[in-house]
Amino acid sequence: MVQNLGSDNEIVYNQTVSFNKGHFSVKGNNNRVFLGNNVKISHSNIRLKGNNIELHIEENVELTGCVVSLFSGCSMVIKANTTMGNGEITVAEETSLNIGDDCMFAHGYEIRTSDMHPIYDLKTGHRLNFGASISIGSHVWLGRDVVILKGASIPDNVVIGINSIVSKDIDIPNSIAIGSPAKVIRKNVIWGRKMFHKTMYDDPMLSGIIRSNRGEND
Ligand SMILES: CC(C)(COP(=O)(O)OP(=O)(O)OC[C@H]1O[C@@H](n2cnc3c(N)ncnc32)[C@H](O)[C@@H]1OP(=O)(O)O)[C@@H](O)C(=O)NCCC(=O)NCCS
Repeated sequence: MVQNLGSDNEIVYNQTVSFNKGHFSVKGNNNRVFLGNNVKISHSNIRLKGNNIELHIEENVELTGCVVSLFSGCSMVIKANTTMGNGEITVAEETSLNIGDDCMFAHGYEIRTSDMHPIYDLKTGHRLNFGASISIGSHVWLGRDVVILKGASIPDNVVIGINSIVSKDIDIPNSIAIGSPAKVIRKNVIWGRKMFHKTMYDDPMLSGIIRSNRGEND
């Protein structure tokens, strides 16, 4: 269940949502939480700390072992059917994190819109490292131990290779990006969740994506 530790918090979910171990709390006022049908949250620690925070998770999303911290004025959206393993997400400094549908995040990811401590230019005295929003498209696969830093964006149907750091925009959809900072090494690909198909046409889960890549309607 979601613990409401403030006032004027709107927390919406029904009995199809499951919570198994872990902790989910909203500490502060005027925050919004929506959990869609069949969202599964297990062994996760989700904390909204502050005011005017929005968390919107669509149907069939599975969070397993996620540590999520959202601070005042921030928002996080996870679209339908996305699955996320052990990892850590921090959204602070009034930024947003948008994650598309049908994404798959392997264990060990770290996604942060803020460095959480300031760095100043000694000459001007001005801060150098402001937080910035992160956008992750639909059907994005993060390999193990991927880091995504403030301001980065990843378009639809991208694979980020194991141990990579994404610190800027990956601007080519349907590609593989690897390394630190992550750069595109392969284009015109699509990844699938199931190992046993020989071609992409044999994978029924990919038929919608293949059709929309060809510009056909569903
Ligand atoms: C992203 C990935 C799937 C790409 O596989 P691929 O298309 O077969 O790519 P290749 O293995 O042919 O590698 C292409 C090149 O990138 C290099 N490379 C691959 N992954 C790399 C990485 N994570 N970091 C740095 N270099 C990498 C290879 O050495 C190779 O270099 P070369 O061109 O100089 O020979 C694979 O590298 C990967 O990260 N696999 C792990 C997936 C994972 O984390 N699964 C967990 C379960 S969800």
